[in-house]
Amino acid sequence: MDLITMNNLTNEESISLLEDAKKLVPVAEGSVHLPLLQGKVLANLFFENSTRTRLSFETAMKRLGGEVLNLSEVGSSVKKGETLYDTMQMIDGYADVAAIRHPKQGAAQYAADAVNIPILNAGDGAGNHPTQTLLDLFTIRQGQGKIEGLNVLLVGDLRYGRTVHSLSHALGRFGASLTLVSPNSLKMPEEIVSDLKSMGCDVQESDNLSSSLESSDVVYMTRIQRERFPDEAEYEKVAGIYKLSKENLSSVRSGMMIMHPLPRVNEIHSSIDSTQYAWYFKQAFNGVPTRMALLCRSLGVDVPEVIG
Ligand code: CP
Repeated sequence: MDLITMNNLTNEESISLLEDAKKLVPVAEGSVHLPLLQGKVLANLFFENSTRTRLSFETAMKRLGGEVLNLSEVGSSVKKGETLYDTMQMIDGYADVAAIRHPKQGAAQYAADAVNIPILNAGDGAGNHPTQTLLDLFTIRQGQGKIEGLNVLLVGDLRYGRTVHSLSHALGRFGASLTLVSPNSLKMPEEIVSDLKSMGCDVQESDNLSSSLESSDVVYMTRIQRERFPDEAEYEKVAGIYKLSKENLSSVRSGMMIMHPLPRVNEIHSSIDSTQYAWYFKQAFNGVPTRMALLCRSLGVDVPEVIG
């Protein structure tokens, strides 16, 4: 099973993965030993920087008894000019499953078409980041117990932010209402807004963060994706445009969750870290059990009903 966009999963399949992930939390924490993937090899192919996605895939595989190969541009023959197609032919022979991050949108699908092993899109340029979406959905269910009917604010760089491209699609399918908060130059691509509307999702667009905070169940902050701007001057115009600090939270709902795919630059002040609203570090940890569930599913390994 490849996972390139959230379109590769039905709602039922997504929920089933999230249920498997819940069972795997003790394994992710290291308190239960469960070598379900012993003898299997994951190739981590990262052609762009990553901390959480790369390391949580690696932790997930190792906690399940599997092995991990790591390839990045520096230190590999990609630096000598080897093509992605040829690189993938090697990986097809060396690994059982691969996670790929690449600066070019569409690269994960290209890689999947080139090989027989399952390919998991770990972020393709300004395209999609579906494994992040799975952990985001897991976190929202953990905090709110549901997705349907929630008011979710997606804030920041909605143009280049691949996390919000994948997440908005999934939230729309699960019946959440969305408020898309961005400066005009970083609005959600029109085709995504139009898809959301055609699936019956209640979508509002705004450039004002503070006016939408009070009625939100989830506030999903994102970094302005500096590396995707063709012109640095355009980045400077919007850098630091949305920042949350404790003072902004005086009239929010008591169960409101602040999430962020991380890394943060200055979108969330560290004074929020110790409040009940801060979910972003738990969210990052949730990458381990959700990626465990996904690796098991991709390799055709069932997660036992009872663990521990
Ligand atoms: N959320 C996320 O994709 O983080 P990394 O870039 O560190 O993998």
